[in-house]
Amino acid sequence: MALAKPQPSTSAAAAAEAPAPLHVAIVMDGNGRWAKRRGLPRTLGHRAGVESLKKTVASAADLNIRWLTVFGFSTENWSRPASEVAELMALPKRYFEAELGRLERDGVRVRIIGRREGLSQELVDICAEAEARTAANDRFFLQIAFNYGGQADIADAAQRIARDAVAGRISPDAVNEGLFASYLGTAGVPAPDLIVRPSGEQRLSNFMLWEAAYAEFVFQDVLWPDYGPEHLKAAIDEFHTRERRYGGAVADDVLAAG
Ligand code: IPE
Ligand code: MG
Repeated sequence: MALAKPQPSTSAAAAAEAPAPLHVAIVMDGNGRWAKRRGLPRTLGHRAGVESLKKTVASAADLNIRWLTVFGFSTENWSRPASEVAELMALPKRYFEAELGRLERDGVRVRIIGRREGLSQELVDICAEAEARTAANDRFFLQIAFNYGGQADIADAAQRIARDAVAGRISPDAVNEGLFASYLGTAGVPAPDLIVRPSGEQRLSNFMLWEAAYAEFVFQDVLWPDYGPEHLKAAIDEFHTRERRYGGAVADDVLAAG
């Protein structure tokens, strides 16, 4: 992977329209449909999806992305058949066995967000090892949401805040958006600028609910195992056409309104 430090956009016109998306979050969706279309078991779709993840991480830095978050397993995915859950649980090991050395060398810092409860001890250890071995890296940040749910993360944050308040470590008056964010799994990571969902589905599915407040959304008609650098580039090109106002007004309109 050619991991360069984030560079200014090479397209001056695009740069003028919107700053480069520093943080892109992707709902990796469509593995099952990809497999079904080929008459394959869903598990093979998930394995093909891991290859897409490798390619996407490799190409993200070249597209000036600095933070990449991917949704790998949701708190709701436990309702799938046990055999499929078992395959999904095996994916982090499959991914890190193949890629952790490269991530470590390329300056990628890995963080796994989501509940550790429910994961095997082996998987918890794999996550801890990936985070520990890359803890000193800061060229690129890869967040993997695994056993993650936006509502669960918000509820867990509320629980920790309540505990700290009861213990007298914080005052209830100190609870505001900033403090709340510091209790989330994503603490310290800027909110995603762009949330991408391939596979044609147009919903958030409990992904980054808090963090998505001002994200731009791009939905793409490609199944995750077919996803490649060209699709990520297309999503970023689309992002550059958006005007982000964060609840404010366009400068020209404010002047016109006097
Ligand atoms: C994404 O692919 C992987 C996970 C959600 C864990 P899916 O398994 O959701 O694939 P589809 O949506 O059935 O095609
Ligand atoms: Mg799906």
